[in-house]
Formats: sequence, structure tokens, C-alpha cells
Amino acid sequence: MKKFYIETYGCQMNVSDSEVVASILKNAEFIHTEKVEDADVILVNTCSIRENAEQRVHGRLNIFKQLKKKSPHIIVGVLGCMAERLKEDLLENEKVVDLVVGPDSYRLLPELLENANTGQKAVNVYLSQEETYADISPVRYDSNGVSAFVSIMRGCQNMCSYCIVPYVRGVERSRNYETIIKEINELITNGYKEVTLIGQNVDSYNYSNEFGKITSFSELLELSAKSFPQIRIRFSTNHPKDLSDDVLEVMSKYQNICKSIHLPVQSGSTNTLTRMNRGYSRDWYLDRINAIKRIVPGCAISTDIMVGFSGETEEDHKETLSLLEVICYDFAFMFKYSERPGTYASKNMKDDVPEEIKVRRLNDVIELQRKLSKESKQIDIGKKYEVLVEGFSKKSKDEMVGRNSQNKVIVFPTKQHKPGDLALIEVVRCTSGTLIGKLI
Ligand code: SAH
Ligand code: SF4
Ligand code: F3S
Repeated sequence: MKKFYIETYGCQMNVSDSEVVASILKNAEFIHTEKVEDADVILVNTCSIRENAEQRVHGRLNIFKQLKKKSPHIIVGVLGCMAERLKEDLLENEKVVDLVVGPDSYRLLPELLENANTGQKAVNVYLSQEETYADISPVRYDSNGVSAFVSIMRGCQNMCSYCIVPYVRGVERSRNYETIIKEINELITNGYKEVTLIGQNVDSYNYSNEFGKITSFSELLELSAKSFPQIRIRFSTNHPKDLSDDVLEVMSKYQNICKSIHLPVQSGSTNTLTRMNRGYSRDWYLDRINAIKRIVPGCAISTDIMVGFSGETEEDHKETLSLLEVICYDFAFMFKYSERPGTYASKNMKDDVPEEIKVRRLNDVIELQRKLSKESKQIDIGKKYEVLVEGFSKKSKDEMVGRNSQNKVIVFPTKQHKPGDLALIEVVRCTSGTLIGKLI
């Protein structure tokens, strides 16, 4: 039997897709290996969101080239968003690559791999309007056995002007909720204690069955929480223009829905948001934050920030900083704008913020957010939380690590817990990234 190795870059959707790929290949009699040196097939599931994400993959392909020199039978496949963006160019520019397969064509992998064995290089980057891999049971080959992603939709059609995702992932489509519930059921049977429902914009989940009955995200969330009171439920990512009070009300009603929301803002300036085509203003966003604080008190809030987008002035940048101060996020991912070929911005909006200014603005944002994240952690000292244990801490076998409902990482000494257990702890201190607790 042939062995496949798979490496994953990018967002949660890619992590989830790699599990689908593993399932498709296992059904076709391939065996998964964690050692690249043992593999007959090397797959790399790629991301195109920023240029540096693609650079990393080019670097990896160079390494695979060395491996292939030693073992010429190895097949190298590029999957995911870069495959979709670069298509045939990948075969031409990266001689090591045998297969280029876009995110909606994974069912064809066994066949394409068979052809590749006979020396046929192949590109399949057809984007589907329907594919959700709904019937496939993902193989959780890289899991802690406690927490799993469940993909509820694919694609995105928000067309934020800077973003490559709609071009590489195709139109938005929602997965049949019955298959979602079935998948969660299987996870529980296998001992999982937490699922995260994922999509590029979960708030626009909208499944219509054969009789035209529509299921919205708040309905799906409620159904999941009600059907599975024994596990924790999370979801990601939310879009500020679509986050409804209905979703927040369901969150507050069910104790097993975790009290944490990731609500990417990108910028605090309405001007910039308009240029980004985000579909909301600063005030709208603040209204959504107020709704979270009102309806789900104690809910943690995290975000994504992008600095240096086309046309961003110093004034716009200051508005981003002031928004951070006002909201006091628990956590943020922070990026420099990276122009992506083919997007609306790349065609119509000049990448006109000089690199050194982008770097400085990013540092401003990182520095401020570091201070705010620290404050958010200090407020937690003395509080008691239920922690879902995920595994040992990096430092010691006498400490375990897990998360509270607010998605904050908590390390605590214990000899009596194992992954999947719930532990009641009190926070005693914090480091820059972690809360430290003691058992109560
Ligand atoms: N669908 C999610 C975002 C997915 S991409 C949403 O809209 O919230 C994750 C993050 O990458 C985005 O929130 C944005 O901050 C960042 N990003 C997207 N395109 C980018 C680009 N061209 N340059 C830099 N960062 C980008
Ligand atoms: Fe990209 Fe916007 Fe879609 Fe997010 S919502 S994936 S940023 S187009
Ligand atoms: Fe990257 Fe594709 Fe996700 S571009 S962020 S892996 S959808």
C-alpha cells in the first residue's frame, strides 16, 4: 500500500479539507504517514491569502525536490488555494510538482494519483457550486482527540476588495445540516468533547432542503447545542455585517455554546472599510460589539486587523488604534496588507502605503494589542473557570493545558486529569500568552 504525507497551511478550512483528503485517500487504500521521508505521495495543502504564505510553500517545494532526487518515484501534489490561483503555472515553474488540485476536486485525487504514477502530470482546478464533501467522514489524523473542526459551508462571495478567497474557493454554499449533525454524533462516539463549526462567514450559513425549507446559522447553532448538551460548541469566523442578535441570543441561551466570538474588523476607519468593501462602518461594528456585550455578558472577543491597505492615511490608522482601545479585544491576529493579483484592489486601487510605513503601523497595532491582551488576562486573575483539558503543557508532564469557554489557554498543575476531562481552576497569574491556574 502506498503512503501519503500531507502538510497544511492557511486557515481552519484547510485543516478541515486535509482531513477530507485523508479520508478520500484512506478509502482508496493509501496509508497516512507523519514522516515525509517515508512517503510515496507528498501533498501540500496551500494558502494564498498573503504573499508570504505562498513563499513558504515555494520553500517547501524546494525541499521536496531534494527528496524526489533521491527517490524519483515520489509524487508531489499541490492542493488548495495556491493550486487554484496558479493552476498550470505551478507545473511550469515548479518542476517537482506532478499534481495541481483545487479545493473542490479532492474526490478525484485517487484517480489523478494513479495517472501521475504513469507519468501523467495533471491539473484539476474546477470550482463547484455544490460540493461540500457532506458525505465524507474526515479522518482526524492530527487531532488531540478532544476538539475537532466541522466544516458547515464552503466558499465566500463577499468580495472584500483585497481578498483572494472568493477567487480560489468559489461561491458560498452551505452543507446539509443533517450531515453536520451526523458528523458531530460520530465525533462524540469517538470521544470528542468540543466541536468548532467553521466557514469563512458562518453567519451567512443558509441551507435550503429539497422542499425549500431554509435553515439559518442561528437555527443550526441551536440545533447543535440542543442535540449535544454533553459537548462544547464553538464557531468561526463571523462577519460583522451578518452577525445577528439571533445568533447572540442562542449563544446566551445554551451554556454549552462557548462564550467567545471572533469578529474580524480589519480597520477602525469607515473610509478604509468602505474601500475594503467590508459592508459595514465603524459605528455598525461598534453596535455589534455592544450587542455582544449586552446579550452575551462575559463573552471574549477577538479580531483580525489589517494595516496599510490602499489609501490608508495616518488618520485612518489612528482610528484603528482608537478602536482597539475602545473595544479591548482579548486577542487579535494582525497583518500587513499584501496585494493579491486578480483581486479588485489589485486592479483598481494602488498599493500606495510604503513598506516602511506598513511595518511601523503593524508595530503600533501589535504593541497596543499586546498591552490590551495583557490587561484582559490580568482581569482574569482570581476568577474561576471550567477548563477542557487538551493535553500536557509544553514545559512539563506535571502540568496540563486546556481552554476555558472564552477560548483562553490555561495551564495548571495536576496529576489526576487526562485530555478530554473538565477541570475547575482558579487563575493565579498570567504570562504574556497564557493564564496560569490552580485546581479548586
Ligand atoms: N473570512 C474571514 C477572513 C479570512 S482571511 C473574514 O472575512 O473575517 C483571514 C484574515 O486574513 C482576514 O481577516 C484579513 O485580516 C487577512 N487578509 C485577507 N486578505 C489579506 C491580504 N490581501 N493582505 C493581508 N491580510 C489579508
Ligand atoms: Fe475574504 Fe472578505 Fe470573504 Fe473574509 S469575507 S474570506 S475577507 S472576501
Ligand atoms: Fe488561505 Fe485559502 Fe484559507 S487562501 S486563509 S487557506 S481559504
